[in-house]
Amino acid sequence: MSPVDLARYVRDIADFPKPGIVFKDITPVMAAPEALEAAVDGLARYARPLGVDLVIAAEARGFLLGAALARELGAGFILARKPGKLPHETVRAEYKLEYGSDALELHTDAIDQGSRVLVHDDLLATGGTAEALCSLAEQLGGEVAGCAFLIELSFLGGRGRLGRHDVHALLRYD
Ligand code: PRP
Ligand code: ADE
Repeated sequence: MSPVDLARYVRDIADFPKPGIVFKDITPVMAAPEALEAAVDGLARYARPLGVDLVIAAEARGFLLGAALARELGAGFILARKPGKLPHETVRAEYKLEYGSDALELHTDAIDQGSRVLVHDDLLATGGTAEALCSLAEQLGGEVAGCAFLIELSFLGGRGRLGRHDVHALLRYD
């Protein structure tokens, strides 16, 4: 079978959610079984050698591939959620977005000391979200094993904010 060209399943939507933003819509990746499989397999191929105990991902789009990736790796999955959504005691990290600002919270007991944590998100833009995920994981005693994205918008420089960490994306837009 020929390899799946994931880029063909990412749709550009101009001026969403604000004028000047070209939104990378991944709903076609999720909807097509062959693309969903290729995305999870591609991320797992990067992450498997890292020896990952936990995958951490951000609400909402990070959850889509994040839990599937954790299952593929035989790892656990931990949820970084928007403020006020998690029921137990939380730690918080604030961050800036390409089109706004936000905060993420994680349960304080989500990570065992020394766990190897893979940071995952659907897309790396300015790096604010991924930096917040790294910071949350490290605050709780985790070790960031690497950062895995479906898409990197490299012209926004997010990789630079994750400098200390290994970063991998299946699709890069320069
Ligand atoms: C999007 C995307 C990443 C983040 C990347 O999430 O899913 O999490 O932006 O941007 P950054 O690198 O500049 O931080 P968004 O906050 O739009 O929320 P959603 O997943 O709920 O759609
Ligand atoms: N998150 C931040 N920037 C984005 C973009 N251009 N497309 C999709 N998600 C995003």
